[in-house]
Amino acid sequence: MEIKPDEIASILRERIEGLDVDSADLSEVGTVLEIGDGIARIHGVDNCQSLEMLELPHDVVGLALNLEEDNVGAVLFGEWDKVSEDDTVKRTGKLLEIPVGEELLGRLVDPLGRPLDDKGDINTSETRSAEHKAPGVVHRQPVTEPMQTGLKAIDSMIPIGRGQRELIIGDRQTGKTAIAIDTIINNKDSDVVCIYVAIGQRMSTVVQVMETLEANDAMKNTIIVAAPADEAAPIKYMAPYAGCAMGEHFLYQGRHALCIYDDLSKHAAAYRQMSLLLRRPPGREAYPGDVFYLHSRLLERAVKLSDEQGAGSLTALPIIETQAGDISAYIPTNVISITDGQIFLETDLFYSGVRPAINVGTSVSRVGGNAQTKAMKKVASQLRLDLSQYRELEAFAQFGSELDPDTQRQLGRGERMVEALNQTERNPMPVAEQVASIYAGTEGYLDRIKTDRVREFLSDLIDRLHSDNKELLDRINETGQLSDEDEEALGKAIGQMVDDFGPDFDEQGNPLEEGESDWVTRREGDERPPVDSDQDGVGADASEAETQAEQEEAGTPA
Ligand SMILES: Nc1ncnc2c1ncn2[C@@H]1O[C@H](COP(=O)(O)OP(=O)(O)OP(=O)(O)O)[C@@H](O)[C@H]1O
Ligand SMILES: [Mg+2]
Repeated sequence: MEIKPDEIASILRERIEGLDVDSADLSEVGTVLEIGDGIARIHGVDNCQSLEMLELPHDVVGLALNLEEDNVGAVLFGEWDKVSEDDTVKRTGKLLEIPVGEELLGRLVDPLGRPLDDKGDINTSETRSAEHKAPGVVHRQPVTEPMQTGLKAIDSMIPIGRGQRELIIGDRQTGKTAIAIDTIINNKDSDVVCIYVAIGQRMSTVVQVMETLEANDAMKNTIIVAAPADEAAPIKYMAPYAGCAMGEHFLYQGRHALCIYDDLSKHAAAYRQMSLLLRRPPGREAYPGDVFYLHSRLLERAVKLSDEQGAGSLTALPIIETQAGDISAYIPTNVISITDGQIFLETDLFYSGVRPAINVGTSVSRVGGNAQTKAMKKVASQLRLDLSQYRELEAFAQFGSELDPDTQRQLGRGERMVEALNQTERNPMPVAEQVASIYAGTEGYLDRIKTDRVREFLSDLIDRLHSDNKELLDRINETGQLSDEDEEALGKAIGQMVDDFGPDFDEQGNPLEEGESDWVTRREGDERPPVDSDQDGVGADASEAETQAEQEEAGTPA
């Protein structure tokens, strides 16, 4: 076919003259140059902003991440595999918006707010920008209210405040998620709205979490945002920002929100994958150079707002998984430096029966002290130090050298404190019960009970307090204070309980008759040689040392 330039020119002129400026769609339009792995390169959207939403066919949403000279690199959400080269792309001029509101409570949703459970549509009326600039220092105030986890070991030694960022860090299977779930359950009847963001987990695990929360009636003020392992990297990348936006909805209404990001290691990996596909230069551990900013801009959004701003709060509990306890890897060090403290969980402690498996020496909360209830502060001030000392002595005592009575007493006290701080999962405790358990330990009441009976004793104690001293417990829970009279009453009640429970040791720490016979019966049940038989060849273990000590006390040297 012959091409006639004149004709073409006249057709073009006609078109341009006939253009109705008002009705024509003049939004900026581009075309897809290249597509693959959920990433598109788009030509022609020159004025596109960073993090702007783009419209593609088949309801696919793009998020502009790389603004290059002649093209824009965007990640795609939705059924991106239906998009092909040369498809048109429209600018929206808006940053990515996430649906927010009360309607999401009790629901399991994806990072774009679409339901993943079978409870029907979610009709939210509001949206919030997924990326939001963190409030500046003048809009903030110090963190002073406690965010109770319901876990004795945390509320007593590593207290978390509303508006704080506290990292939960540890190897796999050390109980990281359990701490987060217990915190949600503990706050089911409080004014805190919880948002649990699951990143890169199996969907079945997420559903299990939801079932657990439902069984504990804690789903009513909780939103679960899930970007499961089989999702594309951009969805996982978006999840924590979406969860944070949902929390901010409550924050800016002057309410309290708690966001849990489980976990940010997988988030960083998703971002690395995305960045490599976008051909950004890889840096240390192949993460892109701005991976610190990825987490800092998320966690800076945790805040306690000033009174003028409504005094709302958003607390962040990010979770990081370490490899073989290595906290000096790239992502762990980044997140440690962004947060206001960390709860460090250890595999060794977990398997030695310390649960939650918190390493007290390396765990810290940098702002939580101000936010602790007065009652807890009063009874637990020494606890941290005592436990750290106990751990040191314990390592020393393993060498089997002779220990002076003071050291022995300290070791005994430490052992009982560890036992008293142990807590099963899904069993968070109100403040008063925690205070009573810890008071029993720090004031030496537990020294009169054998370590393996401590747990039983404490559970009996709590039951007893509930039936006999209900007002005392209620007063501590309501006021958060432990007045001197209440302290005395508590001490008396615990002392009485020790007598009724049947102590194993007298007040000086000498074993009592019952305790001894109790021990001998246990020994027989053990199917080991009786005490008075020939002991040669049997390694000197802890219980033998005990016998020896007992005999010495009785004045009959072995
Ligand atoms: N306080 C506890 N008492 C008893 N068992 C616990 C406690 N905390 C956690 N567990 C158990 O330990 C296991 C691991 O817990 P959890 O899933 O919370 O760990 P995680 O660190 O989140 O693991 P992952 O790395 O797989 O995410 C679970 O089987 C859980 O039931
Ligand atoms: Mg987990």
